[in-house]
Amino acid sequence: MAWYDWFSSIYDTSLEQLYRSARLSAAEHLQLETATRVLDVPAGTGQSLDVLVPRLPSNAELVAIDASTGMLTRAKQRAERNGYANRVQFLVEDAGNLSDIGTFDRLHVFLGLTAMTEYPSVFERLWGLLRPGAIAVVVDVHNARPGLQGHLVNWIARADVRRPVWEPLQRCSEQYERVELPKDARYGGALWLARGRKPLTPRVDAMPLRPEIGPQGAGGGTKISDPAVPTRHS
Ligand SMILES: C[S@@+](CC[C@H](N)C(=O)[O-])C[C@H]1O[C@@H](n2cnc3c(N)ncnc32)[C@H](O)[C@@H]1O
Repeated sequence: MAWYDWFSSIYDTSLEQLYRSARLSAAEHLQLETATRVLDVPAGTGQSLDVLVPRLPSNAELVAIDASTGMLTRAKQRAERNGYANRVQFLVEDAGNLSDIGTFDRLHVFLGLTAMTEYPSVFERLWGLLRPGAIAVVVDVHNARPGLQGHLVNWIARADVRRPVWEPLQRCSEQYERVELPKDARYGGALWLARGRKPLTPRVDAMPLRPEIGPQGAGGGTKISDPAVPTRHS
């Protein structure tokens, strides 16, 4: 994770303001007031922790994971600086290898999956850590035909904004919705937020995908009607 270790040194000065309101939307969609155990992955320099931790009940736990030591060191420093280090457990770990960390009732994945080539299998692993009824929120950028700014974002973040990284959540969750967040040319594409709930009984792969349903939720945004996602059997 040498690149991200380096990127961590400029990450906050270049990007902290740009994503602030989207982080608030993600926190609101997670309904943290009833959370007991929250997984934030990849946590990066911990910018989201500033909005997640204050919304947690006092007895809730938050586990922040990132594969980059440089990123997570800054996240820890942020938590100490802002007085909530005792509320967060930090783990340097590849999201695709997570195991033995218990189960969670909230999952927060902000600007993470487009940076992972193997995002379907990573998401599947994260989903496997969730309890039935858990809420997952994913925020990322999408641009099917990136222009100059999209290519710049891909290069600096080692990401690919063409990846349809909402699809695994759409496929396996219920009460799924996806909204477009307010635009900014600096994102390099459309910034969107997807939310879904883990069913009490797992969906089978052959279950037909439903159109998006449910309330728009806090934070607003324009609802996106995703095209049907092929199941594994198709
Ligand atoms: C664009 S940054 C986003 C960081 C943070 N989520 C945020 O919202 O600011 C992408 C992050 O993904 C992390 N990352 C990339 N691949 C990963 C993996 N396989 N497992 C865990 N973290 C990973 C990088 O270290 C980096 O911190």
